[in-house]
Amino acid sequence: MLVIVDLVLMLIDLTISILNAVVRTVVRPRLKPIDGELCLITGAGGGLGRLFAIEFAKEGAELVLWDCNAEANEQTAKLVRELGIKAHTYTIDLSKRESIYQTADRVRREVGDVTMLVNNAGVVAGQKFLECPDALLERTLLVNCHALFWMTKAFLPHMKATNHGHIVTVASTLGLFTTACVEDYCASKFGAVGFHESLAHSLLAEGGLDGIKTTLVCPYIVNTGMFAGCQIRQELRNLVPPLEPLDCVQQSMRAILSDEMMVCIPSIMNMAVLSRALLPWEANIVTYRFLGADKCMYPFIKTKQQQQQQSPVANGHVKSG
Ligand SMILES: NC(=O)c1ccc[n+]([C@@H]2O[C@H](COP(=O)([O-])OP(=O)(O)OC[C@H]3O[C@@H](n4cnc5c(N)ncnc54)[C@H](O)[C@@H]3O)[C@@H](O)[C@H]2O)c1
Repeated sequence: MLVIVDLVLMLIDLTISILNAVVRTVVRPRLKPIDGELCLITGAGGGLGRLFAIEFAKEGAELVLWDCNAEANEQTAKLVRELGIKAHTYTIDLSKRESIYQTADRVRREVGDVTMLVNNAGVVAGQKFLECPDALLERTLLVNCHALFWMTKAFLPHMKATNHGHIVTVASTLGLFTTACVEDYCASKFGAVGFHESLAHSLLAEGGLDGIKTTLVCPYIVNTGMFAGCQIRQELRNLVPPLEPLDCVQQSMRAILSDEMMVCIPSIMNMAVLSRALLPWEANIVTYRFLGADKCMYPFIKTKQQQQQQSPVANGHVKSG
């Protein structure tokens, strides 16, 4: 009998959650205020990270900026300070677990307890799998996935103690479906999505932690240079053009500030997720071929090769370990 009652209650909750999701697409939800929050952003030295820093600053959050590129990170801090917001910079290599723990301790001592964590830093090897040095493949997993473990271990305990906080994971649509020549990246982003979702479930299952929010951000290709050259079939390029970085960050901010649990940008990418889940593997292959998505990374790999020939160090070329 109890199971029937629970089933009916579950169906009511399920209907409400679907209706809520529909309403949210029509009526813009209220955005939460974040002035007074201490927000840590990784990969703040460039691309989306810098734009996240500026958008969080505009909302009044104090910022802790982490990046391996000290100069670029300082440049972001300067832009934040020009908005009248405090910014604290830390130079760190996120592929090193002990550095993460040590730097987290320094942040706690020197600035305070982080209440919003934006795990944004990410890398991609950009080489064909068999030709790619092992260390470069490994680095992608360390930065895009393992760092999430250590960052969360470092900052979640205080959020739990105060039942207050927000953890944002910037993953990718390539954490939801895949294509050729980005094995390291897809493995790391599927890992990031899996980690983030399991963490969200853990917080909900534990109970009494409704003050800690989680948001998973999955953008399609963004014009930051990370996937420079990547392109689908020419005739269809205008249908799904690469995202403009500011647009991507502003859409992400709306999701974060309205406590959305997940956002796919643009939302049409949900179709690709559905198609991967529902259609047979061969059907997806046929669609990929039509869209030119099967070889969309080929020109990107070529661009990366050219960049590495011109400047091996600047492009993160690491000798095989
Ligand atoms: N650009 C895209 O097309 C795209 C698409 C989907 C998801 N994403 C994700 O969005 C996030 C931001 O991407 P982006 O395009 O702004 O990248 P980006 O390369 O422009 O910026 C990444 C930043 O991370 C920093 N960084 C890299 N390795 C680091 C390390 N080991 N330690 C500390 N800092 C490190 C870099 O110095 C840089 O400032 C990443 O997680 C990326 O995977 C990007």
